[in-house]
Amino acid sequence: MNHNIIIHPHKVSRKKREKIKNQRGCVLWFTGLSGSGKSTIANEVENQLNKLGFHTYLLDGDNIRHGLNKDLGFSEKDRSENIRRIAELSKLFVDAGIITLTAFISPFIKDRQKAKEIIGERDFIEIFIDTPFAECVKRDPKGLYKKAMRGEIKNFTGINSPYEKPVNPTIHIKTLEENIEESVKKIINYLKINNYI
Ligand code: PPS
Repeated sequence: MNHNIIIHPHKVSRKKREKIKNQRGCVLWFTGLSGSGKSTIANEVENQLNKLGFHTYLLDGDNIRHGLNKDLGFSEKDRSENIRRIAELSKLFVDAGIITLTAFISPFIKDRQKAKEIIGERDFIEIFIDTPFAECVKRDPKGLYKKAMRGEIKNFTGINSPYEKPVNPTIHIKTLEENIEESVKKIINYLKINNYI
């Protein structure tokens, strides 16, 4: 780090930004296998929060891997850098008072732990979208599992690259046991009970 870079104090604080929106900034960090339903559930949670009048933003592959992180692939090193940048970006969104949703596989415990440290434990809500590997292979919405099994994609999560399940997620969504509506309700209720909204 360059020691000549000095942080400038801002007149408008996070608290003031949050007050205008009547909400508390936080990160809903979705993690799970490809095809587990992260994006679908995160999308619907954002939709419901928006309908309730809250200011949100969803970070996912479309706006990150096609833009900010388009230089990154799927090696362990690149995935770590992907998650680090997303965490730093989310931290800024939280400082803006925004309820931020992130939908990335984020397969490594150490990277999610680092994201939690960057964002701050109080603002980090880990949501495990728990869909068994066999079910993700069955769904295969993008045909990527088939390709990976034919050896056409290297480092594919669940096939030739690991997914480390969260040990103690804040919210555990078992998609084979509940429907999307129930999962969304569970997440929104968590935000209400814990005074985020
Ligand atoms: S990570 O591990 O968090 O950095 O991955 P992420 O940024 O979420 O990107 C996952 C999406 O990229 C597609 N894809 C792959 N996934 C896993 N492994 C490999 N090798 C790979 N190559 C491409 C895939 O469509 C993932 O999308 P989702 O929405 O998770 O299915």
